[in-house]
Amino acid sequence: MHFNEQLKKLGTDHVDLLLLHWPVFNKYIESWRALEAIYNDGQARAIGVCNFDVDHLQNLMDHANIMPMVNQIEFNPRIHQPDTVAFCQDNHIQLEAWSPLGNGQLLSSPVISKIAKEHGKTPAQVILRWELQQDFIVIPKSVHEERMRENRDINDFELDADEMEAIAMLDEEKHSIWYDKYKWSGNPNGRDDYIAKPGEF
Ligand SMILES: NC(=O)c1ccc[n+]([C@@H]2O[C@H](COP(=O)([O-])OP(=O)(O)OC[C@H]3O[C@@H](n4cnc5c(N)ncnc54)[C@H](OP(=O)(O)O)[C@@H]3O)[C@@H](O)[C@H]2O)c1
Repeated sequence: MHFNEQLKKLGTDHVDLLLLHWPVFNKYIESWRALEAIYNDGQARAIGVCNFDVDHLQNLMDHANIMPMVNQIEFNPRIHQPDTVAFCQDNHIQLEAWSPLGNGQLLSSPVISKIAKEHGKTPAQVILRWELQQDFIVIPKSVHEERMRENRDINDFELDADEMEAIAMLDEEKHSIWYDKYKWSGNPNGRDDYIAKPGEF
């Protein structure tokens, strides 16, 4: 669908942020040019990418006129992607964490529960605060209004260095189960041709 049609459906003449969902091998430079054109036309206030690693970003840097303003990556206490994070920080690309709660699976961690109890907060709030203190934008998903409010209410406490470190120790550099299945990055064993089914992501 042409972007103009999407805007029409949304009932707006621009969006605040437009992201490229993932780096499809041999296609993402061309796709990025389309996002640049949309940005230059004023139809998106900001443009960015998702799931780009250092190689993708460096390649984009060699070919693009505008660098991404945002990189949305999988980031939570269990997966840190330090090389990508450092590259984005060095190049003024705002980081955004998808699955910031580890898809809900981190909420029962004893380490996080203990810290939450000490602050009178919930485990979800502590995890989101841990990400916020590292300058990530967080996009937790919930279908419950109360949880949405809870996830927003994270600006009245601060984790100290020891607490930040204790949570960071939960790192397993482990992606979601589905992530490695769709190796979109050009790996010969991957699924560069993979087209997601509606609602899959
Ligand atoms: N760019 C990408 O490639 C990519 C990939 C995956 C996801 N995403 C985006 O990232 C966003 C979030 O990711 P996600 O849905 O995978 O994981 P998530 O936000 O880490 O976790 C969502 C899960 O946590 C539960 N939850 C949320 N708030 C809670 C709270 N306060 N207390 C207890 N449970 C809570 C939700 O249940 P309830 O809904 O029942 O509350 C849901 O089961 C989504 O909007 C998605 O679009 C992007």
